[in-house]
Amino acid sequence: MTDAALVGNRTFENAEVLAHGVAEWLCHLAQASNRAFAVCLSGGSTPRRLYQCLAEPGIVSRFPWRRVHWFWGDERFVAHDDRESNYKMAHDAFLSRVPVPDNNIHPIPTEGTSPEQAAVAYETTLKRFYGAEFLSPDRPLFDVNLLGIGENGHTASLFSGQTALQESRRWALAVTGADPKQRVTLTYPVLDSSRDAAFVVTGAAKQKIAARALAGDRTLPVTMIRPIGRLHWFMDRAVAPEGAN
Ligand code: 6PG
Repeated sequence: MTDAALVGNRTFENAEVLAHGVAEWLCHLAQASNRAFAVCLSGGSTPRRLYQCLAEPGIVSRFPWRRVHWFWGDERFVAHDDRESNYKMAHDAFLSRVPVPDNNIHPIPTEGTSPEQAAVAYETTLKRFYGAEFLSPDRPLFDVNLLGIGENGHTASLFSGQTALQESRRWALAVTGADPKQRVTLTYPVLDSSRDAAFVVTGAAKQKIAARALAGDRTLPVTMIRPIGRLHWFMDRAVAPEGAN
């Protein structure tokens, strides 16, 4: 993979080509590291095929599973075996099918607790992994942060009009009211503590919202993601603006 392919926006022919391309990109970055490597996963449906590619022959044998740790940018507050669970989607797509150490998987707790307690517990998990109480602008928590966007411009579980958008101290928050389900979300300071943050977006239904975000529409939560490292947009042709590379 050329260096140019490692940074900046990329448009892929279709969702299948994108899934393979982004899986390859992630594998390349993880291989290039020589230490613990932290990936923050997004939920929803878009990344499922990308996650499945990580467990397929072209990548699974090359991926440094022992060094890579898996976190979630948000979670629906349902049991981990619920079809709506972001943990379940990733578990079924690849985590249950690859040689990843159990201790490298860090789900947001959703059972035997409340959304608020889960947010506090996950903040502790993230701080313990990071090894500090405060995020440093020189040392990102996540090596890669995979993000999706909703048709209403949300990302993770940061929805327009929510007080969570203004949170600058807490690392994770309980979110209610924005969606049929209660959720837990990471906050902007934590999502931005990323060496490489990548929006993974496919399908014509996302074209309008992606165009608004790419044009800098600050009314959208997605637009306010400002990683301390590099920001990428990985789109398929159905989403990409006319003429995008
Ligand atoms: C979630 C996600 C959320 C998702 C967008 C896009 O829990 O729903 O983390 O931020 O990325 O809603 O979802 P789709 O990929 O299903 O369109």
